[in-house]
Amino acid sequence: MAVQPVVYGNSHRPPRGDYERANADYTCTQDWAQYTEQDHDTFRRLYQQQLSRLPGLACDAFLSALPSMELGRGIPRFGDINQRLRQATGWEIVAVPGLIPELAFFELLARRRFPVTDWIRTPAEFDYIVEPDVFHDLFGHVPMLFNPVFADYVQRYGEGGLKAHALGAGELLARLYWYTIEFGLIRQADGLRAYGAGLLSSPAELAHSVQSPSARRIGLDLVRCMRTRYTIDSFQATYFVIDSLDQLIDMTAPDFAPLYELVRAAGDLSAAAIQASDVEITSGK
Ligand code: PHE
Ligand code: FE
Repeated sequence: MAVQPVVYGNSHRPPRGDYERANADYTCTQDWAQYTEQDHDTFRRLYQQQLSRLPGLACDAFLSALPSMELGRGIPRFGDINQRLRQATGWEIVAVPGLIPELAFFELLARRRFPVTDWIRTPAEFDYIVEPDVFHDLFGHVPMLFNPVFADYVQRYGEGGLKAHALGAGELLARLYWYTIEFGLIRQADGLRAYGAGLLSSPAELAHSVQSPSARRIGLDLVRCMRTRYTIDSFQATYFVIDSLDQLIDMTAPDFAPLYELVRAAGDLSAAAIQASDVEITSGK
């Protein structure tokens, strides 16, 4: 049975993945044998390039988990990653043909299953691709799932997503995902670092987000964050900063139903909006 393909936002671009392969829950089998030598080579080159850019920019949790991923030889078998990931935090990764619908996504996360796109970009897209591919999903997202605190946050996010979906607030909660799990910054004792996958897997935005004096960084505030629209085809205009991974758990523990009401009443903000209440974080310590 074919499931419906999914596109980002209101994009008219046809999605890339082959959704004929997907099961009802949108997962599919990673057909490892069909990767070509060029696919593995693209992955290895992306990996080596990004590895060299991490020092001073990636957070400690990411750096300490990355070696367990053993990504240096090419696109790994998801089953091999899962042996180590299950042991670390009880999470596992599942293959998907590309972006999946909100509800299916929340359902997987709530069960500690992280969807990973199984195809890789072409060499022509080496530096930039709009849709997530296996490099973004594996390199960007999976190391953080080895961290017990972050792993719990993502599961709770999935559970919160199911609730938000029922309340018609999935889009608002998606902004929290975007500004934490994709583009989040954290203040460590030794300075600002990235923990968001969209930053960690990006050759140019990683340094920009952490170091550029022109990037806007503000302390994470839930209502402020869920009011803020985002862009998918340029650097983020605003980054939200946390002081510890525990903060993600603590901040999101309360019931969000009243927050969604507040967010709706306050209205959307543009990605670059400035509010008097914003707590600016400077790029230094
Ligand atoms: N506590 C939130 C609620 O009641 C759920 C949630 C948890 C949302 C974790 C995001 C992250 O809706
Ligand atoms: Fe992502």
